[in-house]
Order: sequence, then C-alpha cells, then structure tokens
Amino acid sequence: MDGLILVTGGAGFIGSHLVRALLTAGYDVRVLDDFSTGTQENLRGAEALAAAHGGHFQLIAGDVRSEFKMRDAVDGCAAVCHLAAVASVTQSLVDPVGTGSVTHGGTVNAVRMAVEAEVSRFVLASSCAVYGDAAQLPVAETSTPRPLSPYAEAKLAAEETCAAAADARQMAAACLRFFNVYGPRQDPGSEYSGVISRFMAAAAAGEPVTVYGDGQQTRDFVYVGDVVEALVRAVQRPLTGVSVLNVGSGTPTSVLDVLGRVEEVAGGPIERRFAAARTGDIRDSMADAGRAKWVLGWEAAETFASGLEKTWAWYREGTRA
Ligand SMILES: NC(=O)c1ccc[n+]([C@@H]2O[C@H](COP(=O)([O-])OP(=O)(O)OC[C@H]3O[C@@H](n4cnc5c(N)ncnc54)[C@H](O)[C@@H]3O)[C@@H](O)[C@H]2O)c1
Repeated sequence: MDGLILVTGGAGFIGSHLVRALLTAGYDVRVLDDFSTGTQENLRGAEALAAAHGGHFQLIAGDVRSEFKMRDAVDGCAAVCHLAAVASVTQSLVDPVGTGSVTHGGTVNAVRMAVEAEVSRFVLASSCAVYGDAAQLPVAETSTPRPLSPYAEAKLAAEETCAAAADARQMAAACLRFFNVYGPRQDPGSEYSGVISRFMAAAAAGEPVTVYGDGQQTRDFVYVGDVVEALVRAVQRPLTGVSVLNVGSGTPTSVLDVLGRVEEVAGGPIERRFAAARTGDIRDSMADAGRAKWVLGWEAAETFASGLEKTWAWYREGTRA
C-alpha cells in the first residue's frame, strides 16, 4: 500500500514515532490532533523529513469527534491509524463520560467517515487493558475480555465498532492491543503505563518515585519502535475483515524490577515511596503475541536493556536542555 495515511493522535507519544516511520517509508502523512496531551514539539522536523523522502506532511488541529474535521482528515487516505484517545485509566475513572466520548465516540466518528470516504484500511490502537485480570497468562486474543475501567470499556467498544464496519463494509480493520509501551517522548505526567517514564523523569530530576501497591505487579513492556513496526505492518500487510492482535514483548517484568533497571541505567539509587494500589490497575499482564507473528510477521525485537538505554538517553538530554 502506498499513498496518504491519516494518523489521529499523531502529536502524541506513540503517534509521533509512527509519523516519522511512515514518512521515512515514503508515505504522505496527515495528522489530526487536538493537542490535549500531544504537542507540536513532538512533531518537530516532520516537514523536513517528508521533503527528504519525497512525501508530504500535513497537520490538522481538531477533535476526532468533529464530523467536519474528520471528513477533511480522511479525504483521499489509503489508511487510517487511529491513535487519538484519552489514554489514561486514571483519567477515565475521574471522567468516564468524557473518556467514552473521545475514546469510543471518536472511533465511531473516525470509522464512519473512513467508510464514507472508502478508506480500505483502519488500524486501531487498542489496549491490553481490555483483558482486565486475565485468568491465564500469557493472555491470548481468545481470552474473554473483562474490562476493569471506563478506559478499557471504551477500547473494547471501539474494537467492536471497527469489527462491525469490517464485517459490513469490507474495509479491513486491525485492532492492535498494545501492552505497556515505553520509549522517548512518553509524557512522565501520564499516570497509566508511564511507569518507566515516571521513574526516568524522577531519576533525571533527582526526585523520589511513588510505587503503587507492593511493586510486585508485573507488566509486559514493549518498546515504542516495536509498536510502530506493528502499526506499519498493519497498514501494509494484506488483511481482510477484522484482525485483533496482541502487541507485547511476551516478557513480564515487575515494577520493582523496572525501578532497579532504571537505577542501573541512571547510575544511582532512586528514593521510593509506596502508596496504595490504584483502582482499575490489573495485577499481572503478559502477552501471547503469537497471532501478531502469524498475521503480521511481527515480534518485539528491542531488548529491554537497549530500549531502556535509548529512553534514558532522551530523558537525560531533556534534563540538560
Ligand atoms: N502508551 C501505552 O502504553 C499504551 C498502551 C495501550 C494502548 N495505548 C493507546 O495508544 C494510543 C496512543 O497512546 P499514547 O501513549 O501515545 O498517548 P498520548 O496521550 O501521548 O497520545 C494521544 C494523542 O491523541 C490526542 N487526542 C486526544 N484526544 C483527542 C481528540 N478528542 N481529538 C484529537 N486528538 C486527540 C492527544 O493530543 C495525543 O496527541 C492511545 O489510543 C492509547 O490508548 C497506549
């Protein structure tokens, strides 16, 4: 597939990496973002990168729930990568209606407009949160979803919207269930999934960190470059109907292990404070990513050590600037 790709949420953490990868691969890229958590700074250099690869880059400021903005945004696109969402479990507990409106409602709008514009491929950024506390680990896509938060409910509903459109309208949809993504440009202010970014920001600033619960809860951390590779493959590979795919490393790491690893790369101890476990947080998480390997030929390639080094280099640089 070639041509123009729409990335909603392209000014965010994962989206800004995806935009660069697509431009480097020679695609034209359009971003629709309302800058609620994303920034223009994240997209610095995108126009120059497009020019260097003979492509075009366009930025539309707007809300994914706006029919008018979305109609403009999908016009002429070969594929949509829909990443815009309220990407926080904590925020979804504070404002469940707002979260549902953006994360599910925004997807309904994006899918509807994409179908109208005859876009043939729709890729949704979904989440491992849909599984809740899975009965069995590693968790496969056949496992029954048990969402524990409005965020997870909204992601599951967004997947169903994609599936319905794929079934009815012959647009291929891929719902990628990201596990805990980390890497440069992740906002340390984000409470969810951002444990590595929070620990690194604290290490860079010489401040203490908060560990929720006993710190023995495990997560499947996947480097942002690997996630982007899965997204690009979901755009490029021949697909029909709907594909729901786990995007994780398949390796569980406890929060306290992460802290130890961050101390190693940062070169010193980090003071820790313990606080009560957060509502909506799952205990353990680990992907069975076999289906993504089968369907996309994808598996996580970045080692945790190397991913942490790259992430730390970015936080250290930010502190020096
Ligand atoms: N980071 C993770 O570990 C993780 C894990 C699972 C799933 N995800 C999903 O991946 C996607 C990207 O997450 P991220 O970590 O890059 O988060 P992010 O907050 O950095 O990116 C989200 C982007 O969407 C934009 N946005 C939010 N509401 C919008 C709206 N109404 N209209 C237009 N734009 C809007 C934000 O400004 C931001 O640029 C999200 O859908 C998130 O739920 C992320």
